[in-house]
Amino acid sequence: MSYKTVRVDLNERSYDILIGSGLLDRAGEHIRAVGCHDRLLVVADASVAGLHWPRLSASLKVCGFRTELIKVAPGEASKSFNTFSNLLEQALSLGIDRRTTVVALGGGVIGDLAGFASSVLLRGLDFVQIPTTLLAQVDSSVGGKTAINLGAGKNLVGTFHQPKLVLADLDVLQTLPRRDLLAGYAEVIKYGLINRPNFFEWLDSNGAAALSGNLELMASAVSECCRAKAEIVAADEREAGQRALLNLGHTFGHAFEAEAGYNGSLLHGEAVSIGMALAFHHSARLGLISKEESIRVCESLKAVGLPVRPDLTGNQSVPTIEALLKRMKADKKSVDSNITLILARGIGKAFVCPNSEVAAIKATLSEALSP
Ligand code: GLY
Repeated sequence: MSYKTVRVDLNERSYDILIGSGLLDRAGEHIRAVGCHDRLLVVADASVAGLHWPRLSASLKVCGFRTELIKVAPGEASKSFNTFSNLLEQALSLGIDRRTTVVALGGGVIGDLAGFASSVLLRGLDFVQIPTTLLAQVDSSVGGKTAINLGAGKNLVGTFHQPKLVLADLDVLQTLPRRDLLAGYAEVIKYGLINRPNFFEWLDSNGAAALSGNLELMASAVSECCRAKAEIVAADEREAGQRALLNLGHTFGHAFEAEAGYNGSLLHGEAVSIGMALAFHHSARLGLISKEESIRVCESLKAVGLPVRPDLTGNQSVPTIEALLKRMKADKKSVDSNITLILARGIGKAFVCPNSEVAAIKATLSEALSP
């Protein structure tokens, strides 16, 4: 299968996202083609390295790269200051220099962590993303956001540091547990809901087959998401305005995710799915869309097996409205504790709504939490 290319147009920081099958085996030549020097520092999720490092390493070797591998424990806990500082120390002890390129091999955690490290090591090194989850392929590996978490919250310390190349090998998605694949698919649907109504329709007809392993359909879905994200990032790289649309479902979602405690009981994409359902439900409450449209969004999420409400059956601890509101007020988009939501005037017509009224948000949360 040939691969698709999506360009992220950012003047001298422009780069390509390559999407297709077999890219891990060709990684060396693609990394060479963007002008990287001989030394690579690969930062990999330890589980992902077990599955995919042999293929990647063979391809890098054939192309004459000298590589060092640092493995990082899987999971959100690795986006900590401790792991970050250990990574910097390890990288320096390996004798990296300014011509070294950092390569991230893994999901969003590794991309964010390695990306942040590459942006500060020796005042900034080149960076290549090889995302291995659907979520990372359609969202976190594109656009240059890097971050770690602090006690005060998620992604609160980081940089904008664009990669030189993103290699999204669709073969690696075959090794993902179904639950992780689905969680990433929530971010796929997100692009349809933000500003691509035709894509939303297309997903209704083709999404299930893409999730079941149809590589052609998955390639179309991932490239459409990358095109959607590339357009928004090119227009607003540092989130002065419309890039915030990419947070559709995230203000509600992050609050549920944080309250669940990042312990695997609620994955990020699952929380985003609940958040998007609530954002449309809230839009209907405010009279911005019809109830039918909000139900349609819920039905599409549910049809593939994504959640639209928190689990109230005892498998997850049920958060209080006050705790959720506190989290929402602490969101990065809040100004003076006023909650900014991404709402919709229709499917594919999302907009940024600053100063969202707290009483109405409480009502939406209360409905979501009632049995
Ligand atoms: N994941 C949201 C963004 O990149 O802006």
